[in-house]
Amino acid sequence: MLDVGCGTGELLARLAAKYPAAHLSGLDPVPEMLEVAREKLSERVELRVGWANELPWPEASFDLVVSCNMFHYITHPVAAVQEMERVLRPGGRLVITDWCDDYLACRVCNVYLRLTSKSHYKTYRQAECAALLKEAGHALAHIERYKINWLWGLMTAIAEKPTLS
Ligand SMILES: C[S@@+](CC[C@H](N)C(=O)[O-])C[C@H]1O[C@@H](n2cnc3c(N)ncnc32)[C@H](O)[C@@H]1O
Repeated sequence: MLDVGCGTGELLARLAAKYPAAHLSGLDPVPEMLEVAREKLSERVELRVGWANELPWPEASFDLVVSCNMFHYITHPVAAVQEMERVLRPGGRLVITDWCDDYLACRVCNVYLRLTSKSHYKTYRQAECAALLKEAGHALAHIERYKINWLWGLMTAIAEKPTLS
């Protein structure tokens, strides 16, 4: 499993504890984030510096590729989805979780961060996310949006890479 934009490795640490036999990899462009991740992860977990639109693995390397709270940084989202799919094996799953612009608080934050933060690019409504995934070749992606508290809402998109026929 690959976590794209793994940051300080929280998700990888939880997965490593729950699935000790799984082969886990993480990628992030910020070496300092990976240094923090390294401290909490065993050497079995592979960590690489890199960007979502140029993943340093050959095609069909993973059963599962996830990205959590990272997608709003991506400047070329369709290309990034296609790159994540490249490293998935046929039948493998892509799971993307990020803020959802259908919730007012996210929308306000998105506007504010677009004006003030160089690294923030854009958050999406559920329908925009569906259109983006369709453009990347995933017309049948399942997308669910949900509140995590009274203020904040996320969405998770799950898409399967077609198997070879
Ligand atoms: C808000 S943090 C989330 C970290 C982690 N996924 C989590 O949920 O705890 C976003 C991470 O995405 C990384 N990031 C930003 N742009 C990226 C890109 N183009 N490709 C891959 N990772 C990126 C950042 O360095 C940062 O570590």
